[in-house]
Amino acid sequence: MHRELAAELVGIRRRYNHPDGSFMVDALRGIDLAIPSGQYIAIMGASGSGKSTLMNILGCLDRPTAGSYKLDGVDVATIDDERLSHIRGRRIGFVFQAFNLISELTVLENVEVPLLYQGVPRRERRQRALEKIEIVGLTDRIRHRPSELSGGQQQRTAIARALVSNPAVLMADEPTGNLDSATGVAILDVIDALHAQGLTVVLVTHDERVSERSQRIIRLSDGLLVVDQLGGRTQLAASA
Ligand SMILES: Nc1ncnc2c1ncn2[C@@H]1O[C@H](COP(=O)(O)OP(=O)(O)OP(=O)(O)O)[C@@H](O)[C@H]1O
Ligand SMILES: [Mg+2]
Repeated sequence: MHRELAAELVGIRRRYNHPDGSFMVDALRGIDLAIPSGQYIAIMGASGSGKSTLMNILGCLDRPTAGSYKLDGVDVATIDDERLSHIRGRRIGFVFQAFNLISELTVLENVEVPLLYQGVPRRERRQRALEKIEIVGLTDRIRHRPSELSGGQQQRTAIARALVSNPAVLMADEPTGNLDSATGVAILDVIDALHAQGLTVVLVTHDERVSERSQRIIRLSDGLLVVDQLGGRTQLAASA
């Protein structure tokens, strides 16, 4: 029996060109990858290997130059921008490495932003935002602005914002990259708890300790997927 796929990539390529249209770099050179719903997967590889490029395509922030990408069975490589942003807004929670919080807004307002775009009424916005803020443990900081938060608290705010649309997939590019190790562990614990509730999780990381928590590790090298292995969690489950 086939397990439902959250994402399916076949022959994905991404070429960056110079503004004049001449060739610059092939960042992805033919990636095949199927991610079952509920899987926790870590994307690793050296700097420049194509991790962020792949994440941006997975997160529908960028389109491949060639290949097909199905998200929840919908072929997103070919649909128009409006439908793409609709699907992105409802199915994917994206956490950027640089957090991308709006500096003028409070924690609560930042977390509400995606719902504002979706036209969710004010009361419901507030309630749903508060729910996610509680999950990441920031209830006592809802009136703070990003500059008044620690790095870990900013990262938690970005995670709460990514979760507020109740996405099926959480994607994060180096979620612990700028954090001290204790704060990083706390963030990973939050992600573990979300995964235990059924969320599909895709992380880019350089950190072996992060990948140890995942069920599967893929490694990119020069735009190709060179390793696809089961992580510590899965092996434990298999031998249990
Ligand atoms: N917008 C862009 N225009 C041109 N080339 C780009 C662009 N973005 C990335 N590249 C190139 O594509 C390749 C892959 O970049 P990417 O950002 O995906 O790497 P990465 O694996 O995320 O690296 P890092 O670990 O340093 O974040 C690199 O050679 C990079 O120089
Ligand atoms: Mg990167």
